[in-house]
Amino acid sequence: MRALLRTITLLLCLVPVFAQAQQAKPVKPFIDAARGPTAIPDEPKPPVLGNAVNDDLRRTRNYAMQPPTIPHRVDGYQVDKNFNKCLDCHARAKIEMSQAIPVSITHYMDRDGRMLGQISTRRYFCLQCHVPQDPVKPIVPNTFEDIDTVIQKSLKTSKK
Ligand code: HEC
Ligand code: HEC
Repeated sequence: MRALLRTITLLLCLVPVFAQAQQAKPVKPFIDAARGPTAIPDEPKPPVLGNAVNDDLRRTRNYAMQPPTIPHRVDGYQVDKNFNKCLDCHARAKIEMSQAIPVSITHYMDRDGRMLGQISTRRYFCLQCHVPQDPVKPIVPNTFEDIDTVIQKSLKTSKK
């Protein structure tokens, strides 16, 4: 009986603690670095697109595994669960008609390195990795040198 009483008193003591804990959290305004202050159920207004370079000239990659930048405009291209406009030209089966560069074999591999018959879901949203370029001056200076430049330089200095 005493044990029971003790438990009841203990539980009763805890009630105000719980009540307090619930009250303690003040509601913070929702701010997310990527979404800004737009609440989860609302759709944010995307920023206006720039005037992307559309010269159709493939650019040099800075390193072998760089996703090449896109040398043509892509605004208005539908990429969702129903349709992928990029694959309309870049799929292996479409290149004869489009003369586009087919997506490479890595785009058919799942994360365990297994080769799939269709484009892998992790390579489906092309613009996650490939981006068009705007004709703007870089905001920050960039002193990156690719491996070819580094090799050339070291060859020159070793000859001396
Ligand atoms: C109407 C056909 C067409 C569509 C649609 C299209 N492309 Fe292209 N793409 C090309 C062609 C053709 C080239 C070759 C260069 C050129 O002519 O612009 C190219 C080049 C590229 C390159 C450069 C490849 C390299 O090796 O330098 C990338 C990356 C690319 N496209 C990505 C995309 C993405 C991502 C989309 C969808 C958002 C897309 N393309 C939609 C036709 C297309
Ligand atoms: C997760 C990142 C990623 C996604 C998503 C992705 N790619 Fe790529 N893509 C790459 C990388 C990295 C390369 C260069 C190395 C390689 O071929 O894997 C590349 C290469 C390419 C090339 C050049 C192939 C060649 O042989 O020169 C084309 C064209 C291309 N991608 C188109 C696309 C299209 C179209 C989509 C959407 C269906 C897409 N990519 C989705 C990362 C990605």
